[in-house]
Amino acid sequence: MLDLAAGRGRHALLLAGRGHRVTAVDRDASGLPAHPNIEPLQADLEDGSPWPLGTRRFGAAIVTNYLHRPLMPALLGAIEPGGVLLYETFMESNERFGKPSRPEFLLKDGELLDLVRGRFSVIAYEARMISEPKMAMVQRIAARRLR
Ligand SMILES: C[S@@+](CC[C@H](N)C(=O)[O-])C[C@H]1O[C@@H](n2cnc3c(N)ncnc32)[C@H](O)[C@@H]1O
Repeated sequence: MLDLAAGRGRHALLLAGRGHRVTAVDRDASGLPAHPNIEPLQADLEDGSPWPLGTRRFGAAIVTNYLHRPLMPALLGAIEPGGVLLYETFMESNERFGKPSRPEFLLKDGELLDLVRGRFSVIAYEARMISEPKMAMVQRIAARRLR
C-alpha cells in the first residue's frame, strides 16, 4: 500500500498494524513511525524530481489532506488493476473556514470524480462540510482501478 504525503503516518500505522506493507512517502520522513511493515521514503514530490516510486505498483493508495495536481497521473498509474484509491482533501469553499484557502490546494466541485472517470469504478464519494477535527469542506473518494 502507498501512503502519499503521509505526514506523521497515522494511516500508514493503522494499515501496518493490520498486517499490510505500507510505503509512506513524505518530504519530511522524520515523523513517520518506526514499524516493521512501514517503508519510509523521504522525497519532495513537488520539486520537479522524477516520481520517486518508479514503476512500482500498489494494491491501494491513500492520500489525505494533500493536493499537488501534477502528481495525479503518476499516483493513479501506481495503483494496480483492481487496486483501490482512497483520497480525501479540502475543496473549494473551505476558505470560509480558514486554511487551506489557496485554489491550488482546494479541489474543485466534482474534481475527484473527474479524476477517476473511465479508469476507476467509484465505490463511494462525498463532498461535504465536516465539523471534526475542525470545520472544513472536503471531498473524499474510494475507487477501484478497472484496468
Ligand atoms: C496536512 S499534512 C497531511 C499528512 C497526512 N496525510 C495526514 O492526513 O495526516 C500534509 C503533508 O504533506 C507533506 N508535503 C507537503 N509538501 C510536500 C512535498 N513537496 N513533498 C512531499 N511531501 C509534502 C507534508 O510534509 C505533510 O506531511
